[in-house]
Amino acid sequence: MSGINYSEKIPNNVNLSEDRTLQRALEQWQPNFINWWDDMGPEGSTGMDVYLRTAVSVDPQGWAQFGHVKMRDYRWGVFLNPGEQDRKIHFGDHMGEKAWQDVPGEHRANLRRIIVTQGDTEPASVEQQRHLGLTAPSMYDLRNLFQINVEEGRHLWAMVYLLHKYFGKDGREEADALLQRNSGNEDNPRILQAFNEKTPDWLSFFMFTYFTDRDGKFQLCALAESAFDPLARTTKFMLTEEAHHMFVGESGVGRVIQRTVNAMNELKTDDVGKLRAAGVIDLPTIQRYINFHFSVTIDLFGADQSSNAATFYSSGLKGRYEEGKRTDDHVLKGNTYKILSVEDGKLLEKEVPMLNALNEVLRDDYIKDSVGGVDRWNRIIEKAGVPFKLTVPHKAFHRNIGSLAGVKVSPDGRVVSESEWQTKVGEWLPTDQDRAYVGSLMGRVVEPGKFANWIAPPVMGINRQPVDFEYVRFN
Ligand SMILES: [Fe+2]
Ligand SMILES: [Fe+2]
Repeated sequence: MSGINYSEKIPNNVNLSEDRTLQRALEQWQPNFINWWDDMGPEGSTGMDVYLRTAVSVDPQGWAQFGHVKMRDYRWGVFLNPGEQDRKIHFGDHMGEKAWQDVPGEHRANLRRIIVTQGDTEPASVEQQRHLGLTAPSMYDLRNLFQINVEEGRHLWAMVYLLHKYFGKDGREEADALLQRNSGNEDNPRILQAFNEKTPDWLSFFMFTYFTDRDGKFQLCALAESAFDPLARTTKFMLTEEAHHMFVGESGVGRVIQRTVNAMNELKTDDVGKLRAAGVIDLPTIQRYINFHFSVTIDLFGADQSSNAATFYSSGLKGRYEEGKRTDDHVLKGNTYKILSVEDGKLLEKEVPMLNALNEVLRDDYIKDSVGGVDRWNRIIEKAGVPFKLTVPHKAFHRNIGSLAGVKVSPDGRVVSESEWQTKVGEWLPTDQDRAYVGSLMGRVVEPGKFANWIAPPVMGINRQPVDFEYVRFN
């Protein structure tokens, strides 16, 4: 059954009412979640009615319904993709065995850690984005921000359900802790560093949803292969929601670029000072934002050599991206993989056992995928006849984890001296002035159909509504 039961306090398609203890535990967690939303969710949004999609089914055809709702009344719930009959584990040492419907004792600690780490990122991004509504460039964008925020809230529910149902007392404690850590909090920060960074402006937000939500996609894809079937089914449904987040990022950056190249053509200039005077974001600044968000995000995949990654794979907890489509033996014992290291001031490829390099494998798949959007951004620039090309920086640029941590490498992949780094870093990463300039553009534009000067309108509205539709009612 793909239908979702909305008559219960917690909407679900997992027959929650048949497990009274679990239902009661989740119903006790629910008000804490709402308190967290009130304290840490989108600032000043309580009275607004927002045109949101809500999941009504897990059927890919017609899974969502649209309507104006108050966000704190959003029907957050537990939705799993339908189970596959007789699903088998398709990689690692347990290949060919039946997928697990429960957590095997020996994998309990690792699975819990994987689920907690994923779960922690979901509310973290809501916290990072909580002030952005105050400076939305349009009502359309404000609605998209809120849509992402409520869905990240639902992703938290997805992980909390697993913790409560399969991990007993430890799981319930972890679920509580997910509401206690806060992004950027000195005493009790979020687990991963990228989720403690600020998202101070809308260019950062679009970059975050393009690059960092895409990290989410790749992590979820790897977990969707898991031998632990409830985790696989949950993450598959999360991926359905995730696609829109990356769309917001890709189209958002695309619209910023569109507005900039339009201004460049109107003013017949590529002079940064003149473009800034005209109130648009110059392409070199956009490039520096790409460099920052790309490098911070690829760190999220972890160290390039990791015995944990090998264990997670061999024991069937976490597969590779599109594991099922690969043609190797899915055990990988004798296989090798090339990773980068620095020797005598040069970047060198070095062959290591693939099992230990699975973080790197996932990172490389991510890099291939994220380049696609940058190519599409370049087409906007090309179409406008502007001679400028955006690129993703070299994998070794500005890294803070693994064998490349702290090595000074230029965006085009040259190992550079400390002094060259110091002179050039202002061309490579956003400077305080860049951030102050972008920040100075942020102001609230929320009349239907109006857009801030630094961003072009979208080509289409949401759910076939017109662009000037009243996506948010302020009441
Ligand atoms: Fe998410
Ligand atoms: Fe997301």
